[in-house]
Amino acid sequence: MSEPLSPILVTGGAGFIGSHLVDALLAQGHAVRVLDNLSMGKRDNLPLDHPRLQLIEGDVADATLVLQAVAGCSAVVHLAAVASVQASVDDPVSTHQSNFVGTLNVCEAMRQHGVRRVLFASSAAIYGNNGEGQAIDEATAKAPLTPYAADKLASEHYLDFYRRQHGLEPAIFRFFNIFGPRQDPSSPYSGVISIFTTRAQQGLPISVFGDGEQTRDFFYIADLVELLLQALAAPQVVEGAVNVGWNQSVSLNQLLGEIGSLFGGLPAVSYAPPRPGDIRHSRANNQRLLECYRPPSPTSIRFGLQQLLGLS
Ligand code: NAD
Ligand code: UD1
Repeated sequence: MSEPLSPILVTGGAGFIGSHLVDALLAQGHAVRVLDNLSMGKRDNLPLDHPRLQLIEGDVADATLVLQAVAGCSAVVHLAAVASVQASVDDPVSTHQSNFVGTLNVCEAMRQHGVRRVLFASSAAIYGNNGEGQAIDEATAKAPLTPYAADKLASEHYLDFYRRQHGLEPAIFRFFNIFGPRQDPSSPYSGVISIFTTRAQQGLPISVFGDGEQTRDFFYIADLVELLLQALAAPQVVEGAVNVGWNQSVSLNQLLGEIGSLFGGLPAVSYAPPRPGDIRHSRANNQRLLECYRPPSPTSIRFGLQQLLGLS
């Protein structure tokens, strides 16, 4: 009889990014273990009857559970977090448990079990407004404006400590704005593309926070999954954080224009005051990404929106 496969642990694997990665890992023949508290993630995002998939329902803030979840794994992809920046502004104490304590628990469990490779979902939010509208490279001074960003930056530092001290192999990705199917639109804290497209589909009014001229570097989910698979398979881990964006700036008003052109019009759009801690412009210098990985050709926003809406 052949040895059972060592699973790859995907924390937050029932969520938007995680569930796409889980599908891809299963398709590659891996065994996958998901640890998710289902606060945002859903069972329906996962093929639960797959023989190589195991779901542990629980919290990354629970050190004992994380220790159990990491046992026997070959690698970890640590995605579990409260992904909303605004949620961290409203509830810093509770989001800190998920967004920072969870990372520390993962590091410690990996150290105890001798698991080395970990992919980590950091964020462009750690740069704050230091990009000043220009493409931001990884060496740009960090200016976390929110508890979310502070927790991501602290997590990066702890991963680096565990790398130096305990031989962990962290591949740190600073995602810019990822979009695609399964991004949950149901909370006011959800990603802007999921909210705007759902509301446009349902003919419901759209609120823009600020003047709509803030910009983001939107990155399609399938392109991201490709990078994560490469990072798991790479013989050598890429040292230091890598921005994940396409070095492009799309304003919310331009985004609304695209969505409107796909639907042949938009519902009422109103403009409200900006959110506290909201970043004005966010655009990746992606030189390191191009040097360290083999990214696929970029999925355009229009094609990504068509895929998301089932129009192509
Ligand atoms: P998501 O909310 O769909 O996924 C996060 C998952 O983590 C959810 O399934 C949720 O239930 C789970 N989770 C949250 N807290 C948990 C906890 N304490 N214990 C266990 N599970 C918990 O969001 P996403 O967009 O898929 O984000 C995945 C990761 O990528 C997050 O770390 C997020 O901060 C990061 N990220 C996302 C983006 C983006 O644009 N979507 C950009 C930068 C970074
Ligand atoms: C997003 C991610 C965050 C990630 C960061 C990296 C989510 C929920 N947030 O944060 O995890 O770390 O990118 O760049 O995935 N807006 C509106 N109307 C709405 C909703 C949002 O105008 O109904 C605006 C926001 O005020 C903001 C922009 O749209 O200016 C983007 O918001 P959001 O999608 O929440 O993303 P980020 O805050 O950039």
